[in-house]
Amino acid sequence: MTHASSPSARPLRVTRAQAPLSGSIRVPGDKSISHRALMFASLARGETHITGLLEGEDVLRTAAAMRALGAQVAQHAPGDWRVSGLGIGKLREPEDVLDMGNSGTAARLLSGILASHGMVSVMTGDASLRRRPMKRVMDPLAGTGATFMAREGGRLPMAIHGLADPKPLDYRLPVASAQVKSAVLLAGLNAQGQTRVEEPVATRDHTENMLRHFGAHVKVEETPQGGRVILLQGRPDLVARDVVVPGDPSSAAFPIVAALLVPGADIIISTVGLNPLRTGLFITLQEMGAQLEVTNIRTEGGELVGDLHVRASSLKGVTVPADRAPSMIDEYPILAVAAAHASGVSRFCGVEELRVKESDRLAATVALLENNGVKTAVEGDDLVVYGTSNAIPGGGVVQTHMDHRLAMSASVLGLVAQNPVEIDDTAFIDTSFPGYLQLMNSLGAGFAL
Ligand code: S3P
Repeated sequence: MTHASSPSARPLRVTRAQAPLSGSIRVPGDKSISHRALMFASLARGETHITGLLEGEDVLRTAAAMRALGAQVAQHAPGDWRVSGLGIGKLREPEDVLDMGNSGTAARLLSGILASHGMVSVMTGDASLRRRPMKRVMDPLAGTGATFMAREGGRLPMAIHGLADPKPLDYRLPVASAQVKSAVLLAGLNAQGQTRVEEPVATRDHTENMLRHFGAHVKVEETPQGGRVILLQGRPDLVARDVVVPGDPSSAAFPIVAALLVPGADIIISTVGLNPLRTGLFITLQEMGAQLEVTNIRTEGGELVGDLHVRASSLKGVTVPADRAPSMIDEYPILAVAAAHASGVSRFCGVEELRVKESDRLAATVALLENNGVKTAVEGDDLVVYGTSNAIPGGGVVQTHMDHRLAMSASVLGLVAQNPVEIDDTAFIDTSFPGYLQLMNSLGAGFAL
């Protein structure tokens, strides 16, 4: 039985926007940075103050897990959290199973911490997370000497027997994955000596930035092939540091595309993270002809942020090169909606990683478009979208497969489609963007809540 058919499902019927979107908003804190802030603060000595923390369900799972491992993690006011850490190697064995809900980032990053502590732990997740591959972290982490037992194909639930004196790893990532890189680096914190990770293409570097922020020695070298080598000296003295979490560019993506597509729209989104390893979507939209201006660029809490001014635009098809994928990996479903509305054909090259996200996002994005009258093709690992020149038929039923980003993408498609779009379940939006529908309504989206 899918969640969509359960009593907690929140279906939504979206009709075409009646007025232009307008106004100024902020989106919730960055999900990647929020998970890491809680984990690093729990491994540091002293009290860390985090502001702007994303209070989505995924991050709350990480908060609960760190508490179960002995850290003190408490909310003081909305977005304002205090974490008292125990120090590297000092976390305690959890008394019960750690349930990471829908969050692949929480599960994969935490594996690195659990493997490098002398304890036995068991991790599980919801039906979506229990389908996702964990072997990609189990394989490298086994090199520390830790042992893992998981279900067939390396799926959760998984038991980990970690070591108090893990071996440092030297690992070349077979896939471009910031989650796997981060799991290896987190395990390296409690290992004597140097941990080395090589990535074929640069992926988001929030872990490296935060390691430095909390006082670890990290060296990053560019490889001639465009990849990176990260070197971490083990057993650093991590000390509590305040963290300011910027707005999530992956969440901003939804109001951005909505404003580009709804005629006459003109909105501002303030304080959005602009880490260059996250902004592939913005570059791609600008290549499509988007009126997307970045202003007031500044550094807050060690990350680049800026305000985005977005105006309705006439978009044309685009080819997105494969090496841009890591910097916009979560943005393909919403980019596909923009491409469906645009004129001309778009091709997203090398998007195979979409098959192992919260759902098989390649198949689900194809179904989202096809069920609403948009022609697509999957050619090898490329997704091709045939633009409708502002005439998406709509009228379809969208299965979101427990995937927040599909639900939000479908909602934006519904705002510009010629016929109403039925979304089977919007409940999972709360994993990354609590209050999304209400925030969009404050701009004039008119979602029927
Ligand atoms: C994330 C990395 C990406 C991304 C996910 C968050 C992270 O996954 O899809 O939403 O915080 O490190 P992969 O590293 O598996 O590509």
